[in-house]
Amino acid sequence: MGSCSATARSSSGSAHVTDGASLTGGDIGESAFEQLWSAIADIGRDPTTGGYRRFAWTEADLSMREWFGGECATRGLDLVEDQTGNQWAWWGDPDGAASAGVVTGSHLDSVPDGGAFDGPLGVVSALAAIDKLKADGFQPRRPICVVNFVDEEGARFGVSCIGSRMITGALSPDRARALRDAEGVTMAEAMRAAGWQPEHLGPEPEVVARVGTFVELHIEQGRGLVDLGRAVAVGNAIWPHGRWRIEIPGEANHAGTTRLSDRRDAVIGCARAVLAARAAAETYDSLATVGKINIQPGGVNAISSSATAWLDARAADESALSATVAQIEREVATSGAVVTEESRTPQTAFDDALVSWLANLLDDAPVMSTGAGHDAGILANAGVSAAMIFVRNPTGVSHSPAEWAEPEDCQAGTAALATVLAELAGVER
Ligand code: GLV
Ligand code: MN
Ligand code: MN
Repeated sequence: MGSCSATARSSSGSAHVTDGASLTGGDIGESAFEQLWSAIADIGRDPTTGGYRRFAWTEADLSMREWFGGECATRGLDLVEDQTGNQWAWWGDPDGAASAGVVTGSHLDSVPDGGAFDGPLGVVSALAAIDKLKADGFQPRRPICVVNFVDEEGARFGVSCIGSRMITGALSPDRARALRDAEGVTMAEAMRAAGWQPEHLGPEPEVVARVGTFVELHIEQGRGLVDLGRAVAVGNAIWPHGRWRIEIPGEANHAGTTRLSDRRDAVIGCARAVLAARAAAETYDSLATVGKINIQPGGVNAISSSATAWLDARAADESALSATVAQIEREVATSGAVVTEESRTPQTAFDDALVSWLANLLDDAPVMSTGAGHDAGILANAGVSAAMIFVRNPTGVSHSPAEWAEPEDCQAGTAALATVLAELAGVER
């Protein structure tokens, strides 16, 4: 493994007092999980909607990062932040062991009005699992790490999984620096305002090489486990997916005086794009969504001069995804729209052997694929042995405040993760 160019920073976040008593004798540490959970419950939460707005490099995100640093310090984990801002908290020396590390964790940012679980469940479960292992007196033979990947959702700058894409070389640093948020702030400016040096962005193979195995625990984003009556599953694959920007031209004019035949209304083209997405998804048995639009100038009594619609498309295989997007492109071309790919993630197959081993270890857990993107997928596509653990979500809803996991299922997920970490890090592999 090469030497690490990452900057080591120690954070001095809020102190967390672990209820050690509840972690002994096989008890999974319910109070530790709940204390961790309640400490972040109000960070970035909109009291009106109940949803979270924890966008990369904003105050809410920085508070989450500081909280994470504090929890790692409390546990004696060594926090190392790479040049993109991913936070790696190590138990054991990642460069001094015979085998590369066993890494778990997820992300702490959110979509607009997101739920509490997408991301944080993986981080909190990881910290609680480490509490359990420490309370049991476990001594890892491989280093163990909890990671918080920066900007997984891409809610602010449009590209998802920026942290994992950057370190694995799947995103160009020039492109990342130039990405703009809705206010026109570039990612470089946002990072600099938060005290970072965006000029150092780039692939970090020595950071990736420290990851021998990555297991990301995540809330299930569907009702598969509800139907199966199980608390946890193992993830084996991610559908290919991507994001496209559709720019629709129009001509500004007066809503009360312009004859219908004289109009070039960008919103009509935008509506066509929305309906084309739905029709293409039905044709190819895929998923296509327009979840964000921007209409200019946005006057009630004005015909719109331009519109931008963002398309999210996913499918079971690459050809269905390409066909879905091609059909939408053909349809919106009739409005003079221009379609630009903003990101595309290929089909991901997690490490087969790891998936089977996990399913067997976790009481013959069901194995399922997902249409949702994850940092685990980006790492897997970069050659890292990776897989996921999903925790039952009784509402089946995600990217919404309705996302949920029952406390006992959070405990089951934490217990599963503790077992996995102990098995993977207890022997040299
Ligand atoms: C991440 O949550 C994604 O799939 O968009
Ligand atoms: Mn998500
Ligand atoms: Mn997620």
